Amino acid sequence: MGQIVFAGAMSHVLDPDYYDRACGAAGRQKVTECMAEIARMGERLTAARPDALIVVADDHLNAFSFNAVPAICVRIGRDVQRMVQDHAEAFDKVLDHMPERYPLHEALAGEILERGLAADFDLAMSWEAPVDHAFLSPVNTLHGARPIPPLVPIWVNSFVAPQPTARRCFAFGRHLANVVRATPWRVGIIATGGLSHFPELSLPRVGETDTVFDRRLIHWMEAGEHEPLQALTADELHKAGEHEFLNWMVLLGAVSPARAAVRYFGELPRINLAAVEWSLA
Ligand SMILES: [Fe+2]
Repeated sequence: MGQIVFAGAMSHVLDPDYYDRACGAAGRQKVTECMAEIARMGERLTAARPDALIVVADDHLNAFSFNAVPAICVRIGRDVQRMVQDHAEAFDKVLDHMPERYPLHEALAGEILERGLAADFDLAMSWEAPVDHAFLSPVNTLHGARPIPPLVPIWVNSFVAPQPTARRCFAFGRHLANVVRATPWRVGIIATGGLSHFPELSLPRVGETDTVFDRRLIHWMEAGEHEPLQALTADELHKAGEHEFLNWMVLLGAVSPARAAVRYFGELPRINLAAVEWSLA
């Protein structure tokens, strides 16, 4: 029987130079500390010998466009390419030194899609979408020079209204756990993004965070209280700059009722950085 052998969630702009420019020396120091904790989490991930790593992140209108915005999309195929942009945002420039192609766990992705139909999840799929910093900054920070297991990238629409609900994302995470149990594989799962911040799409609020709201989310995750998290509304998430927490909701559904252990939480004017790991039975 398959099992989830590692679960972690973390911020996904992991670039000391970016934070130095955005927030000064404190920004560089805090993201460096956060990245060191994520690297330690990665050692535990590798020690758990995963056959596959599910990465739940959101699209920043990089992979998809207003041509089609899938609520939840699973990347299929044999491998996935790193996104290449001529005029990359600063936090996507950090991708330049990273490997260009990553193997995928095609069989696990196929199971998630096919069993999804039986579980009332009509998931989008893509053979072509590239992965950006939201996937590759955490994956490369976790692994350093060690081999990266085959990935299953999954996008959640956290930016374009109407987004899937927190409860729906949690239910999709339950589906992932059920699928893993029905396979022979050891699977790691990470969710990326957050915590509170406002992207350029919400320009007037760039530079704001909501530490009180972040700490409430962390309290519920540490206590394993997942009902109030599922009850979060789109309006609450939007007002607090927690749009990317939908990715974390998928992970919570996959590991519930496991409790979170905070490895790092750091306040910055631009974003509150976090790295969290779950204690799995
Ligand atoms: Fe993001």
